Amino acid sequence: MPTEEILNLEELEENLDMRIECINLIKRTDSSSIYLLMNGNGKYILKRSLNGDIIKDYKNHETVYKIWESCKKDINFIIPKPFFCDIGSEWYLMEYIADANNLQDMVLNKNSANLEKQFNHVGNVLYQYHQCMTLHVRSKRKEFTEHNTLKSVLSSKKKKMFSDLLGHFDRGTYTIIFKDFKPSNVLIDKNNKIYLIDFQNIHYCAPFYYDIARFIDSLEVSTLFRSPLFYFLNRRRINRFTECFTKGYSEFKINNGLLNNARKMHQIEHIFMKKDKGHSTKAILLKMFYDIGV
Ligand SMILES: Nc1ncnc2c1ncn2[C@@H]1O[C@H](COP(=O)(O)OP(=O)(O)O)[C@@H](O)[C@H]1O
Ligand SMILES: [Mg+2]
Repeated sequence: MPTEEILNLEELEENLDMRIECINLIKRTDSSSIYLLMNGNGKYILKRSLNGDIIKDYKNHETVYKIWESCKKDINFIIPKPFFCDIGSEWYLMEYIADANNLQDMVLNKNSANLEKQFNHVGNVLYQYHQCMTLHVRSKRKEFTEHNTLKSVLSSKKKKMFSDLLGHFDRGTYTIIFKDFKPSNVLIDKNNKIYLIDFQNIHYCAPFYYDIARFIDSLEVSTLFRSPLFYFLNRRRINRFTECFTKGYSEFKINNGLLNNARKMHQIEHIFMKKDKGHSTKAILLKMFYDIGV
């Protein structure tokens, strides 16, 4: 696909005040296009939103980056540096993570080695993210039930079921959550350094179990939808990955009953999320998967 069709290079150069030598589309997701951009000084990632405004993501990314900078000596993950948001708020520029893959692609790639160890580290990284963000995000905190999708859940016939499940979590389990913590938002480079990306929501408070539940459900669903045969042949391996991830979060803190509750809550929300976005076929497939527990 020629880049010119999507981005106006002259406008981009003027906006960035740099000469661009080369720009390539390297990933396309449901909500964004990710470009690798090169100029005389180096390589950058340009993230372009397909659903309009990206300013909120950029501002969140800046906030997380600043918090990360203040506690980076005590933690072992990295946040790519955000550089610049377009005047029209359609795209933003950030540091390019070289020689890295996202964890979801690594799972599907037969040649990936040491994945159990990586999942264990990623669990620990999530624990560190929760600690660090809960300490530093003081203003603008929101209850996760204020999120639009959860508002839809709570005004539907699932309200009682969802509220009963949520009622099992005491306030001591609440942290600032990542909200969209899933394997495709975790990058690992060739030196096994772990990077977190994609900060759509950084102010929500919820039981920490929520992020663990979303991560496990997303790993299963994305693997199944992207490669059903691989999923069925590797179910045991995938279960081991989730065990390593959960252990990495905390050997002692996880109560399996509460984790199951969090997964049921997330699964209800996940189906609503697809419905609200107008993806009704995906919503039906998800419901089937979650009901049958394939
Ligand atoms: N800074 C980066 N360096 C290298 N690859 C990246 C970077 N940011 C994103 N990617 C790649 O693009 C994919 C999608 O990026 P992401 O920000 O998660 O988009 P979306 O919000 O659409 O999910 C990632 O899984 C990763 O493979
Ligand atoms: Mg993402």
